[in-house]
Amino acid sequence: DNLPVQPLSHTPEDLAAKIRTCTACPLHCAATQAVVGEGAIDARIMVVGEQPGDQEDLAGRPFIGPAGQVLQEALEKAGVDRSTLYLTNAVKHFRFRLQGRRRIHQSPDEAHVAACRPWLEQEIALVRPKLIVSLGATALKALDGPGSVMAERRGTLWTVGEGENAVQRLALAHPSWLLRLGDSAQGEIERQRFGEGLVRLRDFC
Ligand code: URA
Repeated sequence: DNLPVQPLSHTPEDLAAKIRTCTACPLHCAATQAVVGEGAIDARIMVVGEQPGDQEDLAGRPFIGPAGQVLQEALEKAGVDRSTLYLTNAVKHFRFRLQGRRRIHQSPDEAHVAACRPWLEQEIALVRPKLIVSLGATALKALDGPGSVMAERRGTLWTVGEGENAVQRLALAHPSWLLRLGDSAQGEIERQRFGEGLVRLRDFC
C-alpha cells in the first residue's frame, strides 16, 4: 500500500525525535505534541494503550491522566512496578473533537493506527520485550491485525513469532473503559478481571 516508509531508528532518542516530527496522518495538526513511549528501554514488558488522552497530550507523557491513574492503582495492587515497564500507545497523537472548549476523546480510525504502526514496530524492535500487553481493542488490532477480536483474546496469554523472536502477548481491557463502568456491578467484575490479568506480568518482571 502507499503508507510512508519510516526510516529505521537505532537509538531511543533517534526514534523519539522522529516520532515527534511525524506528519504521516492528520492527527498531528490539532494535537499539542506526539507522545512517545516511556520507561525502561530494556523492559521485559511493553504495555500498549490506544492513544494519549487530554492530559497526556498536554504533558507529553503516556498514561498520566485518569486512565493512567486506574492503571497505576491496578499495577500497585498486582505488585508490578511501573518503572519496570515500557509504556506506549498504538497512536502517538491525541484525537479529539471540540465541544465548546472541551476536547472530547475520539477513538482513532484504522488509517491513524496504520500510519502510526511503523513507530510501534520500531519501539518493539528497540525494547525487544518478552511480553507485550495490549490495553483495549485499538491496541489489540494495532498489534495483531484489524481482524483480532477482544472477546476471543482477553485475559489469555499467547505466543507470536518463533525462536529468538518469540514474544508473549496478553490482551486486557482498557482502563478508560473500567473508568466508564464506574462503581457498577460490571465495573467491579471487570476491575477484578483486569487485576488478575496484571498479576500475570509478575512472571516477566
Ligand atoms: N489512554 C491511553 O490509551 N493511553 C494513554 O496514554 C492515556 C490514556
